[in-house]
Amino acid sequence: MRYEKLNPKNISDFKKFFNAVKKDFLQFRKFDPHRKKTFEDYLTSKNLNILLAIEKNKVVGYSAYDTNYKGKGKLIGIGFLRKHRGKGNGLKLAKKVMTILKRAGNKEIVTRTWESNSSSQRLFKQLGFKKYKTIKNDRANGESTFLFRWRKE
Ligand SMILES: CC(C)(COP(=O)(O)OP(=O)(O)OC[C@H]1O[C@@H](n2cnc3c(N)ncnc32)[C@H](O)[C@@H]1OP(=O)(O)O)[C@@H](O)C(=O)NCCC(=O)NCCS
Repeated sequence: MRYEKLNPKNISDFKKFFNAVKKDFLQFRKFDPHRKKTFEDYLTSKNLNILLAIEKNKVVGYSAYDTNYKGKGKLIGIGFLRKHRGKGNGLKLAKKVMTILKRAGNKEIVTRTWESNSSSQRLFKQLGFKKYKTIKNDRANGESTFLFRWRKE
């Protein structure tokens, strides 16, 4: 596995990959399209970035992050193609992103997932995140969103 930041050369491969995994994300009930960032925003913004996991020249995983989200780090999203899950790849990529967010000077890092997503909740706990808030009925199917944070000791 090699890791590459999103750049103008790999963005079309990344978009193909993302079309395959986006159905696995449980969308918000009230989704505000004006707040949605495009992948091009990730190329131009200083603090937004995407780290890609690449195997045999194919994008198989990604993690999007923000090194300065209201003065905190944010792990925006993470996902792998189905056959690359459950092999430690998610944890390895997430650890790399956590290192980037900590090196940027963040003493607090936030992330979120939905209540039935136990694999991402286990992943976050392994990284030292703790659940601090629940937003009820926040997802398209009525599920809650769980907010997690990591804090420097
Ligand atoms: C959430 C997600 C990114 C996790 O990635 P992953 O690669 O499956 O995670 P890992 O393989 O690192 O960890 C999963 C399990 O494999 C285990 N594992 C770790 N290394 C392993 C290895 N070398 N071989 C086998 N299993 C291993 C982990 O211990 C973990 O076990 P647990 O679930 O009982 O805690 C992945 O499930 C995914 O893409 N889901 C769809 C999108 C999504 O829901 N994203 C999160 C939204 S916030």
